Amino acid sequence: MPKLSIWAIRLALVHLVVGWGLGAVLMVNRAWGWSSALWRWVEVHVALALFGWTFLLVVGVAFWMLPTFGRKQGRKKAAATSVVAINAGVLAVVVGMVVAGPWAVVAAGLWAVGAVSFGWHAWPRVKAFGA
Ligand code: HEM
Repeated sequence: MPKLSIWAIRLALVHLVVGWGLGAVLMVNRAWGWSSALWRWVEVHVALALFGWTFLLVVGVAFWMLPTFGRKQGRKKAAATSVVAINAGVLAVVVGMVVAGPWAVVAAGLWAVGAVSFGWHAWPRVKAFGA
């Protein structure tokens, strides 16, 4: 497995544990009504579960598994940019919990960079053999 995939998938697993753990806390909070202030953290839960876990896992596995057509993994820098941008986007949402600012817009921008750079990396690797 390439190093980039190892790191992307390991980071995805960290996001999974923290994101689902936070989801569980939110669920118990709904049942027992600990604190209404906790609800704000649903944004972090969504960032971790949807982008940090799902998106990062897809990038890590795709970088490893998509056919290479004899050219190693192709546009590696684009895939690495995607991994960094996804993580930075999740971080921006967490920072937004404690520091006022347009962090949701920053996160959305970073995830857009993550999606486009992943597409740029994957595009030449998605074709029929012999084409
Ligand atoms: C990949 C898995 C998951 C994804 C993509 C996901 C995504 C989401 C999304 C999009 C929301 C809605 C946020 C909103 O309404 O603004 C949400 C809410 C929530 N999630 Fe998750 N989630 C996942 C797993 C989990 C798990 C495993 C738990 C619990 C152990 C959990 C607990 C919750 C709770 C308690 C809420 C708030 C629901 C409410 O507003 O009543 N989630 N999640």
